[in-house]
Amino acid sequence: MATASSSPSIQDLSDSGDYYLTALDVYDRGSGRIRRICEWAGENIPALADSIDVSLSKDSALNVLSVGGGDGMSDSTILARLLDRTHPRIRAVILEPDSHMMHQYQDLVKKESAKLQGVNFDWRQQTFQEYLATAEEDEKFHFISCISSIYYLGDLEVALKRLYEILAAGGILLVTLVKGDGGFGRLWQYHYKSVRTQKTRYITSSDIKEACRRQSIPIADTQTIRISCDITACFDPPQQISKDGDLLLDFLTHTVNFSRNAPAVYRDDLLQFLGSEACTYRGSDGEVIFNGNNEAVIIRKQ
Ligand SMILES: C[S@@+](CC[C@H](N)C(=O)[O-])C[C@H]1O[C@@H](n2cnc3c(N)ncnc32)[C@H](O)[C@@H]1O
Repeated sequence: MATASSSPSIQDLSDSGDYYLTALDVYDRGSGRIRRICEWAGENIPALADSIDVSLSKDSALNVLSVGGGDGMSDSTILARLLDRTHPRIRAVILEPDSHMMHQYQDLVKKESAKLQGVNFDWRQQTFQEYLATAEEDEKFHFISCISSIYYLGDLEVALKRLYEILAAGGILLVTLVKGDGGFGRLWQYHYKSVRTQKTRYITSSDIKEACRRQSIPIADTQTIRISCDITACFDPPQQISKDGDLLLDFLTHTVNFSRNAPAVYRDDLLQFLGSEACTYRGSDGEVIFNGNNEAVIIRKQ
């Protein structure tokens, strides 16, 4: 197998600022990722909310932490589902380092104020790591959500340990991320063999399970969130690839300008693997459909 490790031009997408957000947007539009997560949340959060095992006085609020809330689309569904008869008042601490995302989230909350009545938002334009450095030592949360953001919290074991520490007894930590045995998991395993940097950015649900096992953090349940994306455009020759095809390929490989910057032999090998049954299947018109399944990992603190 050819490798990309000798190429200095392979740049991690996560460090590319707005370019990362543009690539994420193309993938999100193609896959309906956020819609699928919202559907999953709509179906599953009510039962999870009922199972939060904390006794709150009538006037106390459920303490909720969102790590990397983004534009708030998935968070607002989760918060609306948590707001039921048992939890009519919520204090939601929203951690989102990107100011643009944060403003989009705040605009959404204004638009959806009727649905979110009872939620008191505490906005923090911070990373999780910055938050931990300034958080009050004894602050605990009854529900913590980490929706597609665990990749960016630095060392995985440290991040999980800290998330578990700030979870109240009886509370729930919900982490959603790409599934280890889905298309991303397999592609990243293949890609990581060649790009031996930034391992933490390529984490999947298999890594979370292993990290929890090593630290005796109990996983109560896991559920697959089915997501797929037509990636036929990624297979056009580099000179003819469309802007969206290019960005999709960058998002899948989590590298910048993969089609132009990766060594040609390595690019061809990776595309062959990407087009194989390990990562994709064929649609009714022969289109190449990527298996973008995510997994929800539900951790309860006893
Ligand atoms: C893939 S997006 C997911 C956003 C949202 N949760 C969703 O599901 O659409 C990842 C988010 O994590 C944020 N993020 C990146 N690094 C972070 C960090 N160190 N701490 C907290 N959030 C971070 C990004 O700004 C981005 O909004």
